[in-house]
Amino acid sequence: MRLVINGQPQDLDVDPDRTVLDVLRHTLDQTGTKYGCGEGQCGACTVLIDNQPVRSCLVRVGAVAGAAITTIEGLTPADGSLHPLQQAFLDHQALQCGYCTPGMIVAAAGLLAAQPNPTDAQIIAALDRNLCRCGTYPRILAAVRQAAAALAHPGGTP
Ligand code: FES
Ligand code: FES
Repeated sequence: MRLVINGQPQDLDVDPDRTVLDVLRHTLDQTGTKYGCGEGQCGACTVLIDNQPVRSCLVRVGAVAGAAITTIEGLTPADGSLHPLQQAFLDHQALQCGYCTPGMIVAAAGLLAAQPNPTDAQIIAALDRNLCRCGTYPRILAAVRQAAAALAHPGGTP
């Protein structure tokens, strides 16, 4: 089956019953996407499938043949700089262990693609089911706010 992973078409000969998370991590070595609970509860495995945040531990790869999948690796610009969300998470120290961070950032990227100027309530709602055991939620909120502003005004001047 064919998938487009981070903009690159990939023809994969894999069991269609495997999860997208499993194929990403163990066939494609895209290990930025994390295995947390494995049952849809934590959001650590969030990727974008056709621009929608999805829990990749719940999705069989055979169900998304032909889809475009974006992982945390795919958000990073090719020039090695950081995506505004990555930069904002660093600036606000919005992580401790960092295990939830790829899923948080990908979920936030999905939000900002759909709603470039979200309210705090919209940010909280979009990330509500992404769990952070380290409790960095206030910093994550500040980081997403900063990234939204940076994406809206890439030159840095509002
Ligand atoms: S690992 Fe997928 S939601 Fe927790
Ligand atoms: S930074 Fe540790 S789980 Fe979120």
